[in-house]
Amino acid sequence: LDDLIAEGVAGRRVLVRADLNVPLDGDTITDDGRIKAALPTLRALTGAGAKVVVAAHLGRPKGTPDRKYSLAPVAARLADLLGSTVVLAADVVGESAKTEVAKLPDGGVLLLENVRFEPGETSKDEAERGALADAYAALADVFVSDGFGVVHRKQASVYDVATRLPAYAGGLVLAEVEVLKQLTGEPRRPYVVALGGSKVSDKLAVIESLLPKVDAILVGGGMCFTFLAAEGLGVGDSLLEADMIDTCKKLLAEHPGKVLLPADVVIADDFSAEANTQTVLAANIREGWKGLDIGPITVERYSDVIAGAGTVFWNGPMGVFELAPFAEGTRGVAKAIVDSPAYSVVGGGDSAAAVRLLGLPEDGFSHISTGGGASLEYLEGKELPGVAVLEA
Ligand code: 3PG
Repeated sequence: LDDLIAEGVAGRRVLVRADLNVPLDGDTITDDGRIKAALPTLRALTGAGAKVVVAAHLGRPKGTPDRKYSLAPVAARLADLLGSTVVLAADVVGESAKTEVAKLPDGGVLLLENVRFEPGETSKDEAERGALADAYAALADVFVSDGFGVVHRKQASVYDVATRLPAYAGGLVLAEVEVLKQLTGEPRRPYVVALGGSKVSDKLAVIESLLPKVDAILVGGGMCFTFLAAEGLGVGDSLLEADMIDTCKKLLAEHPGKVLLPADVVIADDFSAEANTQTVLAANIREGWKGLDIGPITVERYSDVIAGAGTVFWNGPMGVFELAPFAEGTRGVAKAIVDSPAYSVVGGGDSAAAVRLLGLPEDGFSHISTGGGASLEYLEGKELPGVAVLEA
């Protein structure tokens, strides 16, 4: 980005891919962290007189316009935060987008509608993605990739467009990659990873690749129940991926003592804030009840490990933190990270949102990443297409 600005961008049309995929409750944005993270690059470009065209997605619409996934609330919030007008095109690369780009003043910002309204955006067919990328390229003179949360996706506005326009890395992408490099390089030891979230199937690959490199993995969230089942415990009605039990067993056996599982859990008779709840030992989960959070003994045990860590990476809530009775596990682990002197990285949309929604001090963490899947894939050692294409 600095190189581009040094070259001079006044009057040039700059297409910026940002990750503005924020959580919404109806039309209300519940956490605007990703929009705030996009501001420095946008401000640098508008300040230098560029005509800024922002491309972004929201949710996973099925390649067709759907009001529920309109970027309208994002455009309004972006305008508030920038303190200037943000025009929202009515389409992605159609007549509205073309007309609005032509009208854009120097220093102005236009947001294209949700790029996933176009079937070519996420298509597996390179030609279909390419046709859309050509249409993006026709709207701009240069491309800036700044949506770190989406660089693990080989999609038209992330990857293909970068092969068609002079392409630059934005400040957010550079900063995020720099932090992750520290984790994959020589992290200060002990290196502790806290992993939560609902689906163990999403996390097994990263657990497998991290296990030889880390000193401990603290498991929480819905995914812990498949691990508890692999230990031979009954998990009642808790989330369980039965076809993953064998893989969990294998990982536990191959790395004895490295994967820590909850000693106690908060169980409920219903998935709701009004449910009856009990805190029980992990071995005593009742039939018909489901585990929705880790318990206080576990929080204490995980906190002790975190207190002695040199580096901590945390991805995924420890429980259903959006519902007050099941927020203490996530709060406790997050607080332990804040209190520890370790170099700490929070990876991911959900965990980053949890930090803010639970009112924890953001400056208590060394880095809060905007990318969930992207940071996990990087740590897993996978190539990130949206970064590789900039390096090519
Ligand atoms: C995210 O929320 O992790 C990013 O915005 C990517 O979204 P996706 O998983 O729908 O591609």
